[in-house]
Amino acid sequence: MVRTSSPGKVILFGEHAVVYGEPAIALAVTRRFKMNVRPRDGGKGHLVDGHRMTAAHHSYFKYAVENYWDGGPLDIATDSEIPSSSGMGSSAALTTSLMGAFVELSGGTIDDERERIARQSFATEYGVQGRASPTDTSTATMGMGVLLAKGPMDGLLWHVERGGAEWYIHRVDVPQLNIVVGFTGIKGNTGELVAKVRRFWESNNFAKETVADIGKLTMEGVEALNAGNVERLGELMDRNHQMLSILGVNHPKLQRLVEAARPHSYGAKMTGAGGGGSMIAITDEPERVAKAIQDAGGRPFIAEIGAPGLRRDGD
Ligand code: PMV
Repeated sequence: MVRTSSPGKVILFGEHAVVYGEPAIALAVTRRFKMNVRPRDGGKGHLVDGHRMTAAHHSYFKYAVENYWDGGPLDIATDSEIPSSSGMGSSAALTTSLMGAFVELSGGTIDDERERIARQSFATEYGVQGRASPTDTSTATMGMGVLLAKGPMDGLLWHVERGGAEWYIHRVDVPQLNIVVGFTGIKGNTGELVAKVRRFWESNNFAKETVADIGKLTMEGVEALNAGNVERLGELMDRNHQMLSILGVNHPKLQRLVEAARPHSYGAKMTGAGGGGSMIAITDEPERVAKAIQDAGGRPFIAEIGAPGLRRDGD
């Protein structure tokens, strides 16, 4: 049996625009998706948490198994600390954990195969969602901080190209920040939200400009992070949130949580695909912001960032 786990993530800047090859910054959080994977003794077909694996219920598992596993039937048991469809990258953490288990079950080691795991996990997300960026899968694989940029910079890990977009994936230092996450409790469907932005982007120049503006703002965010300028970071987060609202992925409850957090924060924005899902705030008063989010009807948690990436856990 192999036990693996991968971290969830928050996107500090650049979600949605990154699907078009614009930059993005994501930070791994200590909440993890864990799984045990073992060859099934007897019986046909793969099991997930005791149920037969189906495309309807286990789309990521099924795609990954069909494309990247050539052994016999598997028995997979999952245990996730990341709510699904919350904007915290649970599907990417699931996929990378599974891909890591495939490597270890085949006699390889995760550390030798990180790049391949990240590439195959991205291909899986892309295959299931119809379109995606490598943000979540790179962050789940590598942990810590990840920057997707339009060209090579310090800390370059690898380069990915798909569907007319390309990304240079980098490791970045994890900043010293207090981040509070607020989950609306409303599940956002990433595939549908990405498709919605796509339709807007295809039909409208203003949407194209907004996507490009998010890209520029993200690189300003990189500078603010390097300079340790939290005020500037917060200001940029507020603007990023506004641009995402223009792209049509905000939600009234998400907006309520963002507004509740702002009086005690440097900045606040939605994180991930939106349409519900989660928001993040940067603050010196995490407890106070968590309470404000809770009072506004959200589910807060104070995120610990700088989590390690995909790993094999003790048996
Ligand atoms: O909500 P999540 O965790 O699925 O994040 C999606 C991030 C997007 O930029 C909207 C899509 C992507 O593939 O990058």
